[in-house]
Order: sequence, then C-alpha cells, then structure tokens
Amino acid sequence: MSSATVLGLLGSPRQGGNTEILLDKALAGAAEAGAKTEKIVVCDYDISGCIECNDCYESGTCTIGDEMDDIYDAIERADRIIFASPMFFMGVTSQAKAVIDRCQCFWALKYILKEKLSRPTDAPVRYGTFISVGGTSGENLFEGSKLTIKYFFDAIDVKPREELYVLIREVDDKGDVLKNEEALQAAYDSGRALAEL
Ligand SMILES: Cc1cc2nc3c(=O)[nH]c(=O)nc-3n(C[C@H](O)[C@H](O)[C@H](O)COP(=O)(O)O)c2cc1C
Repeated sequence: MSSATVLGLLGSPRQGGNTEILLDKALAGAAEAGAKTEKIVVCDYDISGCIECNDCYESGTCTIGDEMDDIYDAIERADRIIFASPMFFMGVTSQAKAVIDRCQCFWALKYILKEKLSRPTDAPVRYGTFISVGGTSGENLFEGSKLTIKYFFDAIDVKPREELYVLIREVDDKGDVLKNEEALQAAYDSGRALAEL
C-alpha cells in the first residue's frame, strides 16, 4: 500500500469539465492504492502572476504574499504531483501558468541559492504526471506544454513520469470525456501507478 501524499493541481477554469473529470479519476486511483490525496482547484485561489522582482534570488521565497502561499505549502508537502490543465491556445491555461511562474522561487532556491526545497528529510524522490485535454486532434497538440511541465517539475524537484501522462484529444464540450472509457481508465491507472512508484 502506498503511503504517499498525492497532490492534484487543477488548472481548468471549467468546474466539472473534462480535465477535472480525469483528475478526479486519477486521484481515485491514487486513493485506491492507499495514498493520501489532496486536490487544489487553482481558480479558487486569488493569485497574482510572477512580477519578476527577483526577491526570491536572495531569499528563496516569494514576497508577493497572496493565496499562492497555500499552494506552496501543498507543493512542499506532496510526494507525488498530478498537474492537470486543458490546452488553451496550445498551452496550459493562464491560471495554471500563473502557478508555474510563481514557482520561480523554487527555481531560485535550487539554481541560484543551491539549496534544497524544504521537505521532510526522509522524503522519497518525488514523481509527477500531467493530465491534459484538447478539442482538436493535432499531433503536436501537447508538445509545448510537455516542455513547460518538464521544466516546472524540475524546478520543484519532481521527476516527470511521461509514461503516466494522460493526454486526450478531441474532447471539447463539457463532460465529453465521459464518453471515452479508455481515457477514464487511463487516468485512474495513471493515478494508481503514480502512487505506487
Ligand atoms: C481559450 C480557449 C483556448 C483553447 N485552445 C485550444 C487549443 O489550442 N487546442 C485545442 O485542441 N483545444 C483548445 N481549446 C479547447 C479546450 O481545450 C477543450 O474545450 C477542453 O475540453 C476544455 O477542458 P475542460 O473541460 O477541462 O475545461 C480551447 C478552449 C478555450 C476556451
């Protein structure tokens, strides 16, 4: 049984939409494996974008002081991260991107200050996966975002597990993904496997 804490970050602004349906499946899979799950609906948080003040280059922390502080805490607590966002103009949503950009303080901690993220000392290696959907079918639909997620995960000391990514094309209307049994199962299996790593 997994004893990991799995954090799901939902970057979709559409409540009950395709991304949230898949994220919930993945978290259910993780819970089935015994993990403690936590879900953050990013749109419920009042957070600013990064303002590049570079204060974090000296302190390793963000000085903006808004509800992102709760998300920082959740990221630090998590052993596994599921980042979920639909494709908006071939990238993650602006709400999801704000969270990513605000993690510049973790990047500064790691690469400027050469310090470790504050985590329990016996914390296991952290792994992450990415869930995304898009209305279209283009081959390169997720390529740009996969790169963003790769560098985001690196900044927060999470190893990307690409084999567990769930990237679903051609779902557009709210709830469309419910008709795609394979996608629902893939999300469940992904969450379960992530928790069991
Ligand atoms: C502002 C906006 C931009 C979008 N851009 C894309 C896109 O670049 N490629 C694509 O395949 N779908 C695009 N879509 C469609 C969404 O990805 C699609 O409707 C998805 O199912 C929404 O997920 P959700 O239900 O979790 O909100 C866009 C939708 C919106 C509202």
